[in-house]
Amino acid sequence: MSLDKHDDTENVDHGDVLNSPNYFGNVLSATMNRREVMRGGLSAAVTAGFGGSLLSACASDGPGSGPTVNVKSIARSKDDRVVIPSDYSAYVLFATGDLLNGAGGDKTLQTITGDEMASRAGDHHDGMYFYGLNAAGALDRSANDRGVIAINFENINQQFLHAAGPTADATTKARTVADEVVKEINAHGVGLVEVKKNASGKFEVVSGSTISRRVTPETPMRLAGPVAGSQWVKTKFSTDGSQSRGTLNNCAYGYTPWGTYLTCEENWAGYFDNASTATPGIEYSRYGIAKSQGGSYRWATAGADDRFARWQLNTVGADASADYRNEANTFGWVVEIDPVSGVAAPVKRTTFGRMAHECAYPSIITAGKKFAFYQGDDARFEYVYKFVPNKVWDAADAGGGYSAGDKYLNDGVLYVAKYNADGSGSWIPLVAGTGALTAANGFADQAEVLVKTRAAADAVGATKMDRPEWCSVDHGSGDVFITLTNNTSRTAAQVDAANPRASNAAGHILRMREAGSDPAATTFSWTIFVFGSAATNASSNLSELTAENDFASPDGIYNDARGLLWIQTDNGHTNEMGLLCNNQMLVTIPPSDFNTRPVIRRFLVGPAQCEITGIDMTPDGKTMFVNIQHPGEETAVADVNGTDGNVSKYASAWPYDRADATKAGTKAGRPRSATLVISKKDGGQIGV
Ligand code: FEO
Ligand code: CA
Ligand code: CA
Ligand code: CA
Repeated sequence: MSLDKHDDTENVDHGDVLNSPNYFGNVLSATMNRREVMRGGLSAAVTAGFGGSLLSACASDGPGSGPTVNVKSIARSKDDRVVIPSDYSAYVLFATGDLLNGAGGDKTLQTITGDEMASRAGDHHDGMYFYGLNAAGALDRSANDRGVIAINFENINQQFLHAAGPTADATTKARTVADEVVKEINAHGVGLVEVKKNASGKFEVVSGSTISRRVTPETPMRLAGPVAGSQWVKTKFSTDGSQSRGTLNNCAYGYTPWGTYLTCEENWAGYFDNASTATPGIEYSRYGIAKSQGGSYRWATAGADDRFARWQLNTVGADASADYRNEANTFGWVVEIDPVSGVAAPVKRTTFGRMAHECAYPSIITAGKKFAFYQGDDARFEYVYKFVPNKVWDAADAGGGYSAGDKYLNDGVLYVAKYNADGSGSWIPLVAGTGALTAANGFADQAEVLVKTRAAADAVGATKMDRPEWCSVDHGSGDVFITLTNNTSRTAAQVDAANPRASNAAGHILRMREAGSDPAATTFSWTIFVFGSAATNASSNLSELTAENDFASPDGIYNDARGLLWIQTDNGHTNEMGLLCNNQMLVTIPPSDFNTRPVIRRFLVGPAQCEITGIDMTPDGKTMFVNIQHPGEETAVADVNGTDGNVSKYASAWPYDRADATKAGTKAGRPRSATLVISKKDGGQIGV
């Protein structure tokens, strides 16, 4: 079967999986998706029924047709290497600090200058999407051998970027080496990386590409939607509030049917210094910006130059056009980037709302119908959202770049989710002048609603969730999968049906189904798909995971075009699950019965102290791209020196062999985040 990555209207049949009741046994939606109808209605689900058998060794083989998971679950690993099934191979495509327009790995991390970093792969590889290219370099959704990878560089392992960690004044903690700060800034943002198969059939970064480029926290951007030009975003850089500078802490992603990339700004609030002693407005405080706050890397202290001063939110000028008091209002958005045209500036689409944005993942796209983008706001007790453009999809807009973005993404309705205890739910619109969102309540217009998205969601009574991370959509059923990574702050008094565990350390995954399978619906049904847990913890292991598939803190999630569902984890390295296994990636097939528990297999375990995040595949299903983020992240600054003479103390020194990411070895240099290429040794499709 061929995977047409963008053709969500294709009807993909999924294998049934042995049925068992979910923990809460939520009611089945009255609205079954069209695939089940085509397969003969509810028969499979009903005959297996609630109370059927539990986990089986086989994830494939219900009565349905369609793909099956053909993966032998691998064991847990604490090795400092990538572990995958023995019939697969993995190599490094590019790693932090590699040139994006030439051969990679030519400089040690600590010798790359600040300005050089702006043309190299940044740090903390995260969400990404493979855009196929044809021989002429144009977007081609069927291309398997050449493409541009749009990839987020979320954050930095600061201790490894410089000779001996960051340099700062011992007393004031002010940064004293400006080039170090420039380098840290430029290691953030987004990469557009042209890749192509060589004569041996292996993907390489294309040397001399006219497409590859970096977008950094200093790249000028256009603001669009209701917030553009409003009082909230007027700065010294853009006195009319029409532009902003750069994108930051880019975590998960989305894509559009017209061929652009959506990158999402997550933990931007912690980067700012705020010398003001006045309590900030709710547009700051609700996102964690406090008075007298020092930013996590203290970029604002590196000098008077604007590129540093902009990270200080204190009021120093006569009005907002004379300082950067509003700079933090220009972050928290979804940014649209055209992956192949470097001419126009990226666009911040303010209609999606402002939050610790995890993702903006599209629904099934159908010509003549409305569509949606699902979003998580990753903080404790934050919300799940969707944005529904007002215009229906016109397939003639494919390839339309930012013009199509202006058509679809500048007006529409932002909704927030409310989950009811009976398995139903509703999408509550966040529209100025409706419900509680009145001027009297602090929402004068839609710009104010969007800048204060969290407060608006509070006002309408949405459901406070256990840290919503990625969303993904099953290409056959349209069901939405949302990872809730953990929330150890939830008390017993605060549990609800959708977040049913107090002190939820291991997280869970929700499955949602829109009423009528309509992405624009205002009601939905939902169920808990699986609970994370170490198998060794009987009281927490509600989904009866085993040593072969236990996991915690689900984060990345990805429904591939054939129907397989991939789950990536970001649990701590010294908590219950972290002591058993490094972060990992698992695979399953969502059972066609909405309430049936999935059978999950472990496919990949990463090196020491990494997170697994970011995944995409080529349309033929034979090449998978997966990111290893921040190996060795807890290495102490004091253990890092300029000659790497202390390398034995580094928590990781992966990758040891770029041609074979599964190899461990003698530690001999700094660990790097990296994009892996995974394929099956026999050249077949992955996972089936
Ligand atoms: Fe960047 Fe919520 O993970
Ligand atoms: Ca994440
Ligand atoms: Ca995470
Ligand atoms: Ca991360």
